[in-house]
Amino acid sequence: MPTARRTDGVLELGSVSLADVARDPRFGTPTYVYDLDGIAAEAAELKSAFEDGGSPAPHLVAYAVKANSAGPIVKALAARGCGADVVSGAELLLAIACGVPAAQIVFSGVAKTDGELDLAIGVGDSGLGAIQVESVEELPRISARAAAVGRVARVSLRINPAVDVGELDTHSYIATGHDEAKFGIPLASVTDALARIEGDRHLRLVGVGAHVGSQLTSTDGYTSSASAVFAFARDVRARFELSFVDAGGGFGIDYGEGCPVRPADFIRRTRALQKEMGLDDLALYCEPGRSLVGAHGVLVASVIQRKIAEPRRWMMIDAGMNDLMRPALYQARHRIVAVEQPEGTPTKAYRVVGPVCESSDDFGVHELPELPDGGAPREVAILDAGAYGYSMASRYNGRALPAEVFLRGGKVVTSTPRSAADEWVQDRLRAPLP
Ligand code: LLP
Repeated sequence: MPTARRTDGVLELGSVSLADVARDPRFGTPTYVYDLDGIAAEAAELKSAFEDGGSPAPHLVAYAVKANSAGPIVKALAARGCGADVVSGAELLLAIACGVPAAQIVFSGVAKTDGELDLAIGVGDSGLGAIQVESVEELPRISARAAAVGRVARVSLRINPAVDVGELDTHSYIATGHDEAKFGIPLASVTDALARIEGDRHLRLVGVGAHVGSQLTSTDGYTSSASAVFAFARDVRARFELSFVDAGGGFGIDYGEGCPVRPADFIRRTRALQKEMGLDDLALYCEPGRSLVGAHGVLVASVIQRKIAEPRRWMMIDAGMNDLMRPALYQARHRIVAVEQPEGTPTKAYRVVGPVCESSDDFGVHELPELPDGGAPREVAILDAGAYGYSMASRYNGRALPAEVFLRGGKVVTSTPRSAADEWVQDRLRAPLP
């Protein structure tokens, strides 16, 4: 999918000049810029993978809201027929407020509070689509909360299929389906889980699923996990009336090192497997986060100054690890390019760093232009920052939360301002000391 592109030396996203956005006093920098059209096209491409002989097979693309919870994005995806995968009561309320029907929301998480369970059970006419259960111990808790309000909670079992971390080929911090992970019900405990549901009139098992990791750049680990889910579903459906199987999220994107598979490839292979295993009558759910939004967002930052102590050359920018945490937390690499770079401008390698007082506030070494007057570029864009960027941002070091600008049809359609500098000061002074 085409994302940021250079026209006459100026970087554009969704045909909007990022120099114009950065220099617009309403936004300034650091600012996340998102292309809603690109996000909608991404959802359409993924949904088309469920087409079967001209009509869509039953499915749900449950957008993992944690990747980017900006209202305009969740609304745009809901308008495209996406459901939501939420992991907190607040994400649940947000999804509903953005127009996602309660029946199309699944609620994952290893430690849901009683308050969150009450919300999930109580919402709408009959509660959420499914509470994804991640431990046997959660079942009696859900049952008790449902009994208290006279409802039946729809649950699905998220199993831990014990897929080898090596097979997933991703960072160990974002692998979730191996046997040391806290996520999902271990295969050894599923019999116990089923027995508890069977004897409980406040629980109804409607699905089974798994989510084994994120930023997967091959379909192998995903399909291994899906085949474990399908084998489990085949056993279970003799006793329970299942309506879906959920293969999870995790489709990788190209951060510059290549990604040979598209999200639709994961779905096509999984659908083929589902048919092979005779489960074609069940809806196939998936829970993509990153792949819907990642490539369609950039973080635009201004260059504050350079610091040169040959052979070391740093480019200091006004975005830091508090704005985009992925490099500091997962050693992730994002491409960084100058917003303005006339063709043929010579470049030099710089280590691009932010203002935060941590050595890990470091975005890596990038080739950036030396302008004809010997100066540094005015702004840079950190690419592929649409997922797990703003949603993981913090106010560390008393920094503001970045602004967000949303594009559609080649123009800015809405925006959220940067948090005011004194907002943080006021917040930290909230507790009066007697
Ligand atoms: N479903 C469940 C249950 C999940 O835990 C996750 C992500 C997803 C779906 C969506 O996965 P995706 O399609 O986005 O890969 N902050 C990390 C990623 C953490 C992912 C956590 N779970 C990063 O920046 O790489």
